[in-house]
Amino acid sequence: MAKKREIILRGFMGRTHSNAWGQVNRLFDVPAKAIMHTACDKVTEDAEYYIDAWGWQNFESDFSRVCANNEVNLVDLGTPNHLHAPMAAEAITAGKHLRVKSHWQVHW
Ligand SMILES: NC(=O)c1ccc[n+]([C@@H]2O[C@H](COP(=O)([O-])OP(=O)(O)OC[C@H]3O[C@@H](n4cnc5c(N)ncnc54)[C@H](O)[C@@H]3O)[C@@H](O)[C@H]2O)c1
Repeated sequence: MAKKREIILRGFMGRTHSNAWGQVNRLFDVPAKAIMHTACDKVTEDAEYYIDAWGWQNFESDFSRVCANNEVNLVDLGTPNHLHAPMAAEAITAGKHLRVKSHWQVHW
């Protein structure tokens, strides 16, 4: 079975998505097993608690280092809206699969 490794942010939605990623292999017959490889957030003060509580293997504060990591092949973004476009572009440019739910607006 192919394996996917992913990264997520640890704010409110980071926690809800951590919960989902932690259950997906058990609840669904997924073609690729999800591996919770690296949680990423610029705030590091409770990193150890966070990865233990949610089952992540690593923690990283620098998103660019996550994008440069060949062991990560899927990025799940949970940052504030104004960061979605630049972070999505960086992840895609680095060849990552991307999951992001964004409320983009076009101003005329
Ligand atoms: N809160 C909700 O109910 C809800 C529901 C649906 C969608 N969303 C969307 O989810 C996204 C995140 O919302 P949230 O409520 O989880 O916000 P949040 O503020 O709780 O979490 C955002 C996290 O991003 C981190 N962060 C900010 N800049 C960073 C950077 N450069 N590198 C690494 N980490 C960085 C912050 O430290 C924080 O932990 C938003 O796009 C929001 O619209 C939120």
